[in-house]
Formats: sequence, structure tokens, C-alpha cells
Amino acid sequence: MTIKEYVLKRKQEIKQYVSCMQKKPSLAIVQVNDDPASNAYIKGKLKDAEELNINAKLIKLPQSTTQEELLTLINKLNNGDNYDGFIVQMPLPNQINEEAIKLAISPKKDIDGFHPLSTLSPCTPKGIMNYLKYENVELLGKNAVVIGRSNIVGKPMAKLLLNESCNVTILHSKTKFEDMANYIKNADIIVVAIGRPGFLDKRFNYKPDSVIVDVGISRTDEGLKGDAIKDLGVKIQTPVPGGVGLLTRLALYENLLELTKGK
Ligand code: GUN
Repeated sequence: MTIKEYVLKRKQEIKQYVSCMQKKPSLAIVQVNDDPASNAYIKGKLKDAEELNINAKLIKLPQSTTQEELLTLINKLNNGDNYDGFIVQMPLPNQINEEAIKLAISPKKDIDGFHPLSTLSPCTPKGIMNYLKYENVELLGKNAVVIGRSNIVGKPMAKLLLNESCNVTILHSKTKFEDMANYIKNADIIVVAIGRPGFLDKRFNYKPDSVIVDVGISRTDEGLKGDAIKDLGVKIQTPVPGGVGLLTRLALYENLLELTKGK
């Protein structure tokens, strides 16, 4: 099943679930950075909310917002009843410390699952795991290579794969080419999130029955490009665009519904 078909099916299930809820779930999206990528992500998230019959409100603050001002808003959202949960779209402008913001969001409202005490997983790794399980990708005892070590994707992705008993290796921009090639040659699952268009290409050898999950999305002169070139000849390779981005958006609403459970 393609990612698009899978997302459509899951959305229908979520819509059905929401229609049985006593109160329509609601979330707020706080945006401080006005960059094109954030605008595109948010547009997608708002479109999903409409489709799923979930209330979503965009709270757009000026780029000059101070950390103090953002913390005041977060405090209000943490303690108010207007929204079941909220996210603060990353990245944030330089005057704001992202880690301080992640820690300020109450785990009870943190749909991103960024807080260390959150019981939820960050949306991109969670969306990927759900898709791999749906596709019955074997994980137990398999060699998983995560390329990229960001706090939003690489690190939590490695943790989720480890929880499923994969042998996990995290590689990154400082890994030597020969080492990269050796790990990739033996990998059953590769999650690439290094932010370099076409990084995974024919320089490397891949197991024919391996799975490549491409998290990268870069704007180039030839359009949007993933971290892998097309058609690497493996069993499953997720497309860009129309791949992991859709899984991330889906996981956002799965997390929201988990937060509203028992309310
Ligand atoms: N920016 C890119 N991905 C994400 C995400 O999953 N959550 C938030 N809050 N910001 C992001």
C-alpha cells in the first residue's frame, strides 16, 4: 500500500473515532517563525484538521516575539481549557531557546511529545514506526541505521527502533564515508534524515530487500528533493514529497487523540 493510500485509510478511521466523541477535540498551532517550510507544514496540518473534523487554531506571533512573551502564551495554553493540546512550530527565531520552550509545554498538552516527561513520541518517528508496522516490516533483530541525530527525528527514531528490538546504529554528518558504506551495505532498515538532497545514491550498496525511509525534504532548483535519489532498487522506498511528511501530520492527530483519551 502506498503512503497516500495508508494515510487516507487511517484518516477515515480517525474521522470515525472523532465523530463518536462527546466533544470535538481541539488544538492550537503556535507559529513564530515565518519561514516557507513552516508555512507549508502548518497549511497541511490545518487542512488535515478540517478533514478530520478537529478544531485547529493557528496563533501566529511576530518574528520579533521574545522568549518571555512566548512563555507567557504557553503558560496560558497550559492552564486554559480552550485547547486539548498545542504545538509550537520549530524552528524558532534565534532570540528564543528551543529547549526552554520544549520544557515549558505541559506534558498534558504536548502533542509533539517533546517534553522529557511526555508519554507520547515525537510525530515523525511515531508516524514512521506506525507505517513500518502497518507494512509488516520485520523489526526484531534487524539492522536499523538512522542517518541524522536531531532531537526531533534521529534520536527519538533510534529509541523507537531499539524498543522494537532492532540493532540500531546512529550515523551522522561526521561519519566517515567508508563507515557509512559498511553500515548501509548491511542495513535492513535505513531512516535518512540528514538534510542533504540525494545523499543516498548509487555510491552505496543496498540490500535488495531493505527499506529506506526518507525524511529529508529540501527545496532545490529542480524542485523538492529527498535525502535519497529515486529508485534505489530496494523493497520499500518512501517518496518525497508525499511520504514521511504525511506520516508526521497523521501522528500529530494520533497524539492529540491520545491526550484527549479519558477526558
Ligand atoms: N518542525 C518540523 N517538524 C516539526 C514537528 O514535528 N513539530 C514541531 N513543533 N515543529 C516541527
